[in-house]
Amino acid sequence: MKLIDSFGRQINYLRLSVTDRCNLRCFYCMPESGVGACSHDDILSYEKLHLIAEAAVGLGIEKIRITGGEPLVREGIVPFLARLSGIPGLNHLAISTNGLLLPKMARDLYFSGVQRLNISLDSLQDDRFATITRGGKLKMVLEGLDAAEKAGFPAPKINIVAMRGINDDEIFDFVELTRQRGNSIRFIEYMPTLKQPGWQRQWISGQEILDRISTRYPLEEADKGAYAGPSKDFRIPGAKGTIGIITAVSGHFCAQCNRIRITSTGKAKGCLFSDQEIDLNPWLERGDRAMISHLLEESVLKKPKQHGMSLEGYEHHNFAMSQIGG
Ligand code: 5AD
Ligand code: SF4
Repeated sequence: MKLIDSFGRQINYLRLSVTDRCNLRCFYCMPESGVGACSHDDILSYEKLHLIAEAAVGLGIEKIRITGGEPLVREGIVPFLARLSGIPGLNHLAISTNGLLLPKMARDLYFSGVQRLNISLDSLQDDRFATITRGGKLKMVLEGLDAAEKAGFPAPKINIVAMRGINDDEIFDFVELTRQRGNSIRFIEYMPTLKQPGWQRQWISGQEILDRISTRYPLEEADKGAYAGPSKDFRIPGAKGTIGIITAVSGHFCAQCNRIRITSTGKAKGCLFSDQEIDLNPWLERGDRAMISHLLEESVLKKPKQHGMSLEGYEHHNFAMSQIGG
């Protein structure tokens, strides 16, 4: 079965947020204080998350990515993933994580049936990493990268939020990872989800990043894997890993969008930047799978053609990415 939206896009990818809590507080994602974590009672139970996943796969979703906050801080995540990975028709199960807990958890995650890890990492310098994450230890993430590969995972994909004056002098250090370690990396344009004053000064376009890399290396276009969605991927000839850009703000990638999202409190969202959401809770409470399927379809059909965010303006309300799942 195929799930097609009102603009002819095939939707085969679900991002499922399992918690809004995180063991870091990256400045572009969460305000320093004042985002209280949702109460445990509001966060969907694993039973409800599983019901949503089954309904989604029944409709034509083939890939699920588990997001947060930080998904690995939620107790009981491994058995949940093991059950999820057994859903017939689910071809691909991935997690986005900040990597801090991987030294402890990578092996169990591998055996739970998770196929891929994406790691968010915005600096390869200790002090800077600590500043961006408000206190994180880079060493733990680097150990996490090693632990993932030791456990059997393919080299994790690394997501970098590129910010002028903050980490743009590290572009080539990240690029080296694609040659030396074989990680694929992706530079994400900084999205003004919290609308911090002056965000435009820190913003860099994906194109500028590619241009800068091209001054030193030739880049060839890389094949996109299945379910790849909106990143544009390149490769330095001979490098194992690819270099991608996600032009979240400048970009015109909405035509390739293949995803829907579920927040940790049970709201279905067709677009990260739309305030439109459908509350699944009343039907989750009753375990009504038919109604959940119907509402997921409705969310797909209401998916807007494109988001209204640009350097000039944006319409959505402020939100912490941890509340939606990136
Ligand atoms: N702009 C761009 N990317 C963001 N992320 C979180 N907040 C933002 C933002 N404001 C990224 C994280 C992670 C992914 C889930 O979303 O760094 O890689
Ligand atoms: Fe946590 Fe990820 Fe948000 Fe950083 S970006 S605070 S690691 S959820």
